[in-house]
Amino acid sequence: MRIGNLNIDGILFLAPLAGISNRSFRHMARKYGADFCYTEMISADAVVYNQRKTIAMIDIFPDDHPIGIQLFGSSPEKMARAIKALAGFEANLFDINIGCPVKKITRKNGGAALLKEPKLAEEIMVAAVETSGIPVTIKMRTGWEIDSDVYLEVGKMAEKAGIAAITLHPRSCSAGFSGKSDWSKIAALKRAVSIPVIGNGDIKTVEDARNMLSQTGCDAIMVGRAAMTNPYILQQIKSYLKDGEILLNLTVKEMIKLALEHSRLVIDQFGEKAGALKMRKHLAWYSRGFEGGAILRGKLMAVNSYSDIHNFLNDYLNRLVV
Ligand SMILES: Cc1cc2nc3c(=O)[nH]c(=O)nc-3n(C[C@H](O)[C@H](O)[C@H](O)COP(=O)(O)O)c2cc1C
Repeated sequence: MRIGNLNIDGILFLAPLAGISNRSFRHMARKYGADFCYTEMISADAVVYNQRKTIAMIDIFPDDHPIGIQLFGSSPEKMARAIKALAGFEANLFDINIGCPVKKITRKNGGAALLKEPKLAEEIMVAAVETSGIPVTIKMRTGWEIDSDVYLEVGKMAEKAGIAAITLHPRSCSAGFSGKSDWSKIAALKRAVSIPVIGNGDIKTVEDARNMLSQTGCDAIMVGRAAMTNPYILQQIKSYLKDGEILLNLTVKEMIKLALEHSRLVIDQFGEKAGALKMRKHLAWYSRGFEGGAILRGKLMAVNSYSDIHNFLNDYLNRLVV
């Protein structure tokens, strides 16, 4: 597919996931088939103020492409300055977050709060497009309140502002993650604009992926939580979309191999202790459904090093095999 002047070799997008989609996780996602990844969301204000911790989150390796840097903010001027400041990071596009429902972000008028102020959203988009030498995209929800359909208005504004593609997670901000995303709104957006639309929300199975494409006519699909808890689903989706083949789930042994590879990467990236702490939640997800897994998960929730992770997982595997 094409986003502006960017060619992307596929239609399977990994969602931006704060606290998750760091360089190590993106490596795993690409290994299993993600055609496009994003950084975690980055504060445009923090970039403008050159905050070290924020800048450190944008670590893009040469093999980590194509990639979008996702920015949030509520000032057109700061959004433009952040984009200028990040020109050297060699991202393939900038994505503006118009969907995050987290209070810390919306309190400062960023994320989904922009859906309450479409005019401000438009000014931010115009400023971003004017400044950026690469495509600018947006990712949004449907509106602030449950019954708001402001996404159609914002979508048309986006197209007019020169935004190159729109991702829609069709839930309102106030819905949080409750209920089901309303895919008919992805279809409605697709009909309303002529730039690419990336469909997102509740793809949990390979069939969901195919159904979203066929029911909405969207140009690409984006997977968040299902890939977060099991990156291998990306390979299953890819295979199913290609030729209808349903790949079996990973065996326990294969999932342990995946978990160890991810752990190694995270620990190399963040250091032994911090990396092990970051891995705890992933290890809980990866060991979901393991027979007698509750005891194992209890141990994994207390790991402090790669050798802890390695030993607990291998002990479990050896006991299973004996
Ligand atoms: C842990 C977590 C972190 C997220 N972080 C971001 C983010 O930084 N930026 C963003 O646009 N959306 C973020 N989202 C929303 C996802 O990108 C996606 O839109 C949402 O999870 C719906 O897709 P899914 O049903 O496939 O999970 C996050 C979601 C989760 C669960």
